[in-house]
Amino acid sequence: MSHEIESTLHEERLFQPSQTFSEQARIPDMATLQELYQKAEDDYEGFWADLARKELTWHKPFQTTLNSNHAPHYRWFEEGELNISYNCLDRHLANNGDKTAIIFEDEKGNNRHISYKALHRDVCRFANALKEQGIEKGDRVILYMPMCPQAVITMQACARIGAIHSVVFGGFSAQSLKDRIEDTGAKAVVTADGCYRGGKIIELKATCDKALEIGGNSVQTVIVLKRSGHDISMTQTRDIWWHDALKNVADECIPTWVNSEHPLFLLYTSGSTGKPKGIQHSSAGYLLGALMSTKWVFDIREDDIFWCTADVGWITGHSYVAYGPLAAGATIVMYEGAPTTPNGDRFWEMCERHKVTIFYTAPTAIRTLMKLGDELPNKHDLSSIRLLGTVGEPINPEAWMWYRSVIGKEQCPIVDTWWQTETGAIMMAPIPGAVATKPGSCTLALPGIDADILDEKGNSITAPNKGGYLAIKKPWPSMLRTVWGDDQRYIDTYWSYFDGKYYLAGDSARRDEDGYFWIMGRIDDVLNVSGHRLGTMEIESALVAHPRVAEAAVIGKPDETTGEAIFAFVVLRGERPEGGIDEALTQELRKWVAKQIGPIAKPAEIRYADNLPKTRSGKIMRRLLRTIASDEEITQDVSTLENEAILLQLRGKS
Ligand code: PRX
Repeated sequence: MSHEIESTLHEERLFQPSQTFSEQARIPDMATLQELYQKAEDDYEGFWADLARKELTWHKPFQTTLNSNHAPHYRWFEEGELNISYNCLDRHLANNGDKTAIIFEDEKGNNRHISYKALHRDVCRFANALKEQGIEKGDRVILYMPMCPQAVITMQACARIGAIHSVVFGGFSAQSLKDRIEDTGAKAVVTADGCYRGGKIIELKATCDKALEIGGNSVQTVIVLKRSGHDISMTQTRDIWWHDALKNVADECIPTWVNSEHPLFLLYTSGSTGKPKGIQHSSAGYLLGALMSTKWVFDIREDDIFWCTADVGWITGHSYVAYGPLAAGATIVMYEGAPTTPNGDRFWEMCERHKVTIFYTAPTAIRTLMKLGDELPNKHDLSSIRLLGTVGEPINPEAWMWYRSVIGKEQCPIVDTWWQTETGAIMMAPIPGAVATKPGSCTLALPGIDADILDEKGNSITAPNKGGYLAIKKPWPSMLRTVWGDDQRYIDTYWSYFDGKYYLAGDSARRDEDGYFWIMGRIDDVLNVSGHRLGTMEIESALVAHPRVAEAAVIGKPDETTGEAIFAFVVLRGERPEGGIDEALTQELRKWVAKQIGPIAKPAEIRYADNLPKTRSGKIMRRLLRTIASDEEITQDVSTLENEAILLQLRGKS
């Protein structure tokens, strides 16, 4: 690997878990953790098979732990049958039926507690409603919903009847929703009239109507939850209110037992090229990964109040809101609104109000809240918090230290968790009672996860602090199974680089002298904006779809708050604007992209040039553009440029 990705970050601070934390922890020390590592190393399949037998409730036991005959299509716990909603709900009813499963708060501050018993009943009822609407095992159901309990109820209800859900984040546009509906061939959409965010109504149903106007012909039913209560239009033959769909349904729904490998859900994520990929996850292996990581990394206990702030539209909201903690019988917090509504202390106020013990969020949120000053968190009693977590992108040591001192009061371990939509569950993170942490490092792989750093030939890089490709060398239970409708892409994207032997994560990383992993960034052109992956290609196609745009190149520019900010270089049809500035057009293009993809994809900055720098083979020189956007000295070879004057335009200087 070229020297460019060699790391410059040198971090020497080391924080040992406190004795009070370790004493009560499930894995209280390195010796216990080593035993788990050893067990996984001595008998990899036996390690996972034991956990699967002990931790999941099976309808029919499995015989084969791992079938690798069709690698890279791995099958885990073949022959086994189970039901995911049964594992998340029914099995807690006898001993913990009255325990709170979900504490829900809306943006206006109304909150309510839902017990396991009540959640079970709601899931059964909605599962019956789905059946009544003709949804059967294997059918795809799209969710386009607010962050409210009904979103979890819908996911669990799909799981109960073996339907495959695909959640589309509520911030995505009609076009993106339509694309996902069409790719999945969904039979039904579950949405809401609207929801409040930052005091404004998000028009979910209107966007859904638009999506179904421009396509999505497979959809027969749209179930609409009344949330905002504002006027919307309903299409008689297609749309039905959630409350009407629930009329006359039974409170019990016998779970549909499915095979271990039955797809539980599809979740779309960006790649550097092509359209978003429908990542397909399994049932048993996925749940085992979500559950074990919840237990190991968050050290969940009977009395914990666990708040993962992620929306269910992302993988984090699947594994650590809808599935992992419920399978563990924990109490979770769900919040529907924006983090700074009405004020910048909303998160801290809620931690105090609900006595949150474990708080899990993204570096971008931490940095945003850090900027607002210490007074806001200091106004609140945060003493209930015992563990902090972060996910989605590398966290800078400054934000890590702030999180530790101002939120955690120097007492709480921070678990920096590395994983991906594709991995289904956390792969690397400090086990909080055992592993000492370093600001900015996700530390070590979890037991049963074989992470390594490889060079181009697939050899381990053993020298400390040498960057390389992050790879997973053995299949693991919660891994993706394929890309929905495009199996070749699954093989090409994740397995072809190392000849089908190892999973290529797409990140570069290094290991330090202590063997700790440090993620250095993506090796492809995928952007990471506020912890969400966005493909450059999607944004470029959106820009080029505008009648005035001839060509576009999009790159990520390091940004203090969002990790990366989207920076677009645009060539217009016709004249370049005078001095490269056209504020009105820039605003129009930003709005345009928001409409095509969603507000998260809006370029922060747009520069106009007569041409884009390309290699001889016609590839856009993104590295050069990154250098230019960051206003750094150009060290690349620019001899292929037709017109070097373009560089000045790209720099915004002519
Ligand atoms: O680049 C890594 C970064 O986010 C990517 C995965 O994005 P996504 O599938 O959207 O899932 C995000 C939530 C799991 C990774 O390839 N990433 C995720 N967590 C971390 C991270 N980078 C550094 N440190 C992390 N803890």
